[in-house]
Amino acid sequence: TTAAPIDPFGRAITYLRLSVTDRCNLRCRYCIDEATRFLPRAELLSREELETAARACVALGIRKIRVTGGEPLLRRGVLGLLGRLGALPGLDELALTTNGTELPRYAEALRAAGVQRVNISLDSLDPARFRRITGNGRLERVLEGVEAARGAGFERLKLNAVADAQRRGELLALVDYAAARDLDISFIEPMPLGPAGREAGGAPSAEAVRRAIAAAYPLAPTAEGTGGPSRYYRIRGSGTRIGLIAPRSEGFCAACNRLRLTAAGALLPCLGHAEAVDLRAVLRGAPGDTEALHAAIRTAVARKPPRHDFSAPAAAPAPIHPMSLVGG
Ligand code: GTP
Ligand code: 5AD
Ligand code: SF4
Repeated sequence: TTAAPIDPFGRAITYLRLSVTDRCNLRCRYCIDEATRFLPRAELLSREELETAARACVALGIRKIRVTGGEPLLRRGVLGLLGRLGALPGLDELALTTNGTELPRYAEALRAAGVQRVNISLDSLDPARFRRITGNGRLERVLEGVEAARGAGFERLKLNAVADAQRRGELLALVDYAAARDLDISFIEPMPLGPAGREAGGAPSAEAVRRAIAAAYPLAPTAEGTGGPSRYYRIRGSGTRIGLIAPRSEGFCAACNRLRLTAAGALLPCLGHAEAVDLRAVLRGAPGDTEALHAAIRTAVARKPPRHDFSAPAAAPAPIHPMSLVGG
């Protein structure tokens, strides 16, 4: 197998986050607002282009692909695409991040297509709060999705909750829910990207989240993680891992192993930087030119900055790349 590409800071880049659509059936307030524009279809990569880009990344040594959105399960033909991605020689892991609403319909088929791990966004277990956060989303539907995924035999399921100021009182309820079902759960510090910029204030730090959970559950740090920048703790005596995603604290980026391809074909060296390599231009300007594609991917790796830069809004104007296009 090909050795993974190494960035200028010595980090092995083994992980591609592939956003397959900017559309979503929810309107999470930290992700999409009135100002969010969905792109015309012609600007999005076709399924063939997505597959070609992914294939090139894997040929260069990427080992894991996580498919994201928008809501990836709204992309037409997504099952076929996943099946082809899962079959790429050299790929160790195919994962999906979803809002869960389409899982009652898709869970079995996703497993059959070769998806190994699924992360499901779940910010609240209170139906009214869930509606408020997601712009009228139905909690019941997502909970059904979680159950459908549990029944489908994935290797691991993880919940994601954005730990904003309003979530303080709900942290333990979410952990209880996860622990009762043997699911992992990650808490994410709201990132000042797009609409979230208005709301990041008052959010507990990842460390404050950890302390709140540790008051109720015995936590042991664990090195077994998913190879990325988040930190994991295991609840003693349980299979559940608590992930803390702390992009606003120091050190987070040191273990960064990823590239992101937006649904429009921009290859991003970092979530928190304006820098982007236009893979769509290469895919459409030089179709079939694998060398050109490889060179563009190597360029993105070479341009990975040491860390994200959320702290300098002047240098990086608010929504650098909309979350709905990048997939988090
Ligand atoms: P695995 O490690 O593969 O389980 O995935 P993950 O937890 O990184 O991915 P997921 O799609 O579940 O995303 C969870 C949250 O973590 C999202 O809000 C992402 O934006 C955030 N996140 C993931 N990777 C990074 C990163 O490299 N930088 C920043 N700033 N945020 C990240
Ligand atoms: N800050 C933190 N997390 C975010 N997500 C979306 N936007 C933001 C933001 N601004 C999370 C979603 C989902 C994951 C893919 O990204 O909650 O779980
Ligand atoms: Fe949709 Fe995910 Fe954005 Fe929520 S965070 S609006 S589920 S893409």
